[in-house]
Amino acid sequence: MRFVDLIEKKADGFSLSKEEIEFMVNGFTDGSIPDYQMSAMMMAILQKDMNDQETADLTMAMMHSGEVVDLSDLPGVKLDKHSTGGVGDTTTLVVAPLVASCGGTVAKMSGRGLGHTGGTLDKLESIPGTDVEIPLDQFKNIVRQCGVAVIGQSADLDPADKKMYALRDVTATVRSIPLIASSIMSKKLASGADGIVLDVKTGTGAFMRTVEEAKRLAKTMVSIGVLTGKKVTALITDMNQPLGNAVGNALEVKEAVELLSGKIAETDPLFQVCMLLGSHMLMMAGIAEDAKTAETMLKERIADGSGLKRLQQMISLQGGDASYLTVENMEQLTDVRKRMDVAALCDGYVSSMMAEKIGTAAQMLGAGRAVKTDVIDPSVGLVMKVRCGDYVHKGDPLCTLYVNDETHLKQVQKLLYEAIRISEVRQQVNPMIHAIITAEDL
Ligand code: URA
Ligand code: CA
Repeated sequence: MRFVDLIEKKADGFSLSKEEIEFMVNGFTDGSIPDYQMSAMMMAILQKDMNDQETADLTMAMMHSGEVVDLSDLPGVKLDKHSTGGVGDTTTLVVAPLVASCGGTVAKMSGRGLGHTGGTLDKLESIPGTDVEIPLDQFKNIVRQCGVAVIGQSADLDPADKKMYALRDVTATVRSIPLIASSIMSKKLASGADGIVLDVKTGTGAFMRTVEEAKRLAKTMVSIGVLTGKKVTALITDMNQPLGNAVGNALEVKEAVELLSGKIAETDPLFQVCMLLGSHMLMMAGIAEDAKTAETMLKERIADGSGLKRLQQMISLQGGDASYLTVENMEQLTDVRKRMDVAALCDGYVSSMMAEKIGTAAQMLGAGRAVKTDVIDPSVGLVMKVRCGDYVHKGDPLCTLYVNDETHLKQVQKLLYEAIRISEVRQQVNPMIHAIITAEDL
C-alpha cells in the first residue's frame, strides 16, 4: 500500500477501507507516514468528508494506537460524560458524584483546559492536596469504594490523536466533523467507558457555531457508538453564554458545591443541563427507567446531601482536603487580592454574551492557559451577574472579577465590554437545550 494513492483516493471523493484507515493511523503514529502526507490527507478528509463506517473505523484505529484501559472488573455499566469545549461548564463536578450516589459507576478520565475553556482536572486541583495522576489500580479501588473517581488520561492514551490534533491545529483541519468525532470518541473508548453521554455545545463559545452543525457532529458520534457497540447519547446545548455563572477553577468548584447543597434554582441553566446529563447516564446504566424517574432520584440526592457527600468522599480518597467542600469553606479558596465589578455603561437588555471572549477574559486573569506550560492561579476568574435577556441600569454590575495579578486588567475589561452587548430592545433568548440525539434518531 502506498499512502500517496490513499490521499488521491480520498481527494477524488472515494471512501477508504478499514485496512487503509488502519495503515494510515499506524503509519502516522509510528512515524513512517510523514506530517506533509498526513496534512494532505486530513485536508482531503475535511473537504470530501467520511461516511459513518469510515469514521467508526478511524475511531477504532486511533483508540488502539496506545493503551486501552480495561475497566471490565468494575461493577455495572462504566459511565462517562464529555462536553465539547464549554465556558463555565462545571457539570462533571456535579453529575459524576450525583450519579454515583444513585448507584452508577463513574470511572472518568478528563483533560486539562487550554485556551478559553476550563478543564475538569484544573478545577479538581484547586482543592488542596487533590491528586489527579493516580495509577490505574488505585483509581479502580477508589471507584469500588465510592462509585466515582476522576483522573487525567494516561500519557500513552491515544497517541494517534495527540499527533493528529497537533497537526490539525496548524493545517486548518480542526473543524472536520469526522476528525472531531473520532478524536473525542477514540479517547473515550480507550479510557474504558461503556456508556457515554455527550454534551455538544453550539454557539459563539463552541466549535459548532450552528445547531445544524452540532446535530451533524452529535449524530456522527452516536453512530460511532452504534458501530462499536457502545451506548452513546448526545445533548445539544447552547453556548451563546457561559453555562454557569462562575468562570475560573475554585469559583466553579464553589458553584458545583452550591448546586449539590441545593442552593441553585432548578430553573438555572447549569442545573437543567446537569439533570439532563445525569438522567441519561442513569438510564444507560439501567438504574432509572425513564427521564422523569431519573431526575427525581437526582433531585433527592441533592436534597438529602448525599451527592455532596459523595464528592467529598471522592476528593478525600484522591488525597484532597474535603473540608473545603462546603459553601462556607469554599470562600477560602476564592479569596483574592481584589474583587471588582465590571459595570454596565448604559441602560438596556443584555442582548448577547460571547462565551468565548468571557472564557478568554478569565484565562487572562490567570484562570487558564494560553499555552500548555502556563501556570494557573486556582482562585481567580469571574462571576457573571447577568444573563441574556436581563434588564440592567447603567452602573449595575455585569460581572465580578476575582483578581490577584492586575497585569492584563485593562484588556480583560475591554474584552468583557465587547463580549456583553446591551441593547434597547429585548432580543430573543436561545433555549438552553436544542436537541437530544440517541441511536433511534439516526
Ligand atoms: N475535542 C477533542 O478532543 N478533539 C477535537 O478534535 C475537538 C474537540
Ligand atoms: Ca468541560
